[in-house]
Amino acid sequence: MTGQDSHDGFQMSRADFNRLAAFINGYSGIRMPPTKRVMVEGRLRKRLRSHGFRDFESYCRYLFDNGGLEDEAPHIIDAVTTNKTEFFREQEHFHFLVDQALPSLIAERNAPTLKLWSAACSIGAEPYTLAMIMADYARVRGALRYSILATDLCMEVLQKAVAGIYPEDIVGPIPMEMRRRYLLRRRDDAVRQVRIAPEIRRTVRFARLNLMDEVYSVEGFYDVIFCRNVLIYFDRADQEAVLRRLAGHLVPGGYLFLGHSETITNMSLPLQPAGPTIFTKV
Ligand SMILES: C[S@@+](CC[C@H](N)C(=O)[O-])C[C@H]1O[C@@H](n2cnc3c(N)ncnc32)[C@H](O)[C@@H]1O
Repeated sequence: MTGQDSHDGFQMSRADFNRLAAFINGYSGIRMPPTKRVMVEGRLRKRLRSHGFRDFESYCRYLFDNGGLEDEAPHIIDAVTTNKTEFFREQEHFHFLVDQALPSLIAERNAPTLKLWSAACSIGAEPYTLAMIMADYARVRGALRYSILATDLCMEVLQKAVAGIYPEDIVGPIPMEMRRRYLLRRRDDAVRQVRIAPEIRRTVRFARLNLMDEVYSVEGFYDVIFCRNVLIYFDRADQEAVLRRLAGHLVPGGYLFLGHSETITNMSLPLQPAGPTIFTKV
């Protein structure tokens, strides 16, 4: 056995890593180059223990040779996804939404019901940011009907998002006025947590959706889609396929927001630039 291939139970052989990497990439779109082996090993160790396996070889045999993959897949995906997020992340997107996108979308129609979609929502910071902004917008500029869909592949983050409970230290970026209006503080001072107010939680519907699915199980067309900081983990062909499907769910004149390091350069898509990593459907 070569140095690189050696493994002592809780380390993974190259062959096992390759099988896992191929599965993770095919299922979720997330690229898994060999440099991720240590990360995957670390994150899946808990799964090994919870099944009582003593090494990755037995775990992989269970997954790939003995039919365990179907039950285990959501746990593997939960373990390997990166869920970093923030409230009001990339603030300029929300300024653009309020100052330009919403007025133009509303001006185009008489009594619009606006549909917004956060397509990789993690623990909910992004869709709840949208929900607070929409609630404020409706409060100031009169009745406005809207709905917000928030989806992610990872079940663990969706459960947290539905609960809408967060440690106090991550709500800092939410403007004070909004914090007062839309966050509830725990009565117990020892537990520094806040909860999104029910009237805000009620405006967001959470669901599991895999951006790699050929067809998205969402209804009709959206005015605004946020798909930020997920495509960076995909290869170019998958990025383009996802963007084509998302564009297919945008109304003409609707807006797509990508993460700050994501681009559509040299892709042939019915989208044109409208702002920094913001695109409109043509
Ligand atoms: C880094 S977080 C970004 C969260 C949020 N959009 C933001 O910008 O703050 C990326 C999210 O994409 C999700 N994800 C990864 N692959 C996915 C896929 N194939 N379909 C849907 N969501 C996926 C992960 O579970 C994770 O919650």
